Amino acid sequence: MAADVPGSGTGPVVVRRGIPAGAERRAAELYWGAFGRKLGPALNPPDKAVAFLASHLNADRAVCAVLDGRLVGLAGYQLGGRALTGGSASAVLNAYGHLRGLHRLLVLALFERHPAPGQLVMDGIAVEAGLRGRGVGSALIEEVAAVAAEQGCRQIRLDVIDTNPRARELYERRGFTAVRTEPTPYLRRLLGFGAVTTMHRPVGANGPRETRTP
Ligand SMILES: CC(C)(COP(=O)(O)OP(=O)(O)OC[C@H]1O[C@@H](n2cnc3c(N)ncnc32)[C@H](O)[C@@H]1OP(=O)(O)O)[C@@H](O)C(=O)NCCC(=O)NCCS
Repeated sequence: MAADVPGSGTGPVVVRRGIPAGAERRAAELYWGAFGRKLGPALNPPDKAVAFLASHLNADRAVCAVLDGRLVGLAGYQLGGRALTGGSASAVLNAYGHLRGLHRLLVLALFERHPAPGQLVMDGIAVEAGLRGRGVGSALIEEVAAVAAEQGCRQIRLDVIDTNPRARELYERRGFTAVRTEPTPYLRRLLGFGAVTTMHRPVGANGPRETRTP
């Protein structure tokens, strides 16, 4: 299924399933652009991080936005034990070295999320900076919701950090509700945020509270 969003190029932004073959590097760059601050201590330096992410992506665990053949947005999700960002512990150790890789594994473990039965976990959403605010992110969220419904999930879950109130507002507009906030003061110096809020949206029940017309 594809959803059209007005774009600023020659054509509309088209939302579709999966990361297209050949766009893995671009997907990793978008992902890193959005989450590099958070993932930096685990995967820096940036060049190496992008290469690592690109070569371990699970392309079937994302929906993406394409404008004139170019990837301009993506939303990853975790389902059936697979997430968009792959890479086993041994892949991390092989890429970064066994000694240096160990503390990286500990940092990555902080981000591990395990879906409860019937849950799809959203795992990172990013839109190219110049195209934000036109409804692409909302269209990506709705496509993930369609995946969740097709897969028989009852609930979508995501985490948002306290330093990203605009993203949280977007999720609230798309029907997500905060269910708990975990203070993480010990992560502020290392990762830049001091609390993580978990949000839920029922599948097929709650529609968005507001639909934006670009
Ligand atoms: C969050 C993001 C995916 C939304 O995509 P989008 O195409 O701009 O979304 P929409 O146009 O459907 O909705 C716009 C809303 O997104 C949010 N938003 C816009 N720019 C944002 C930004 N730089 N960072 C976070 N949220 C942003 C705001 O709530 C905005 O509404 P507002 O203009 O009334 O403030 C996109 O802004 C982005 O890639 N941000 C950086 C990465 C990020 O923060 N990801 C979420 C991590 S939990």
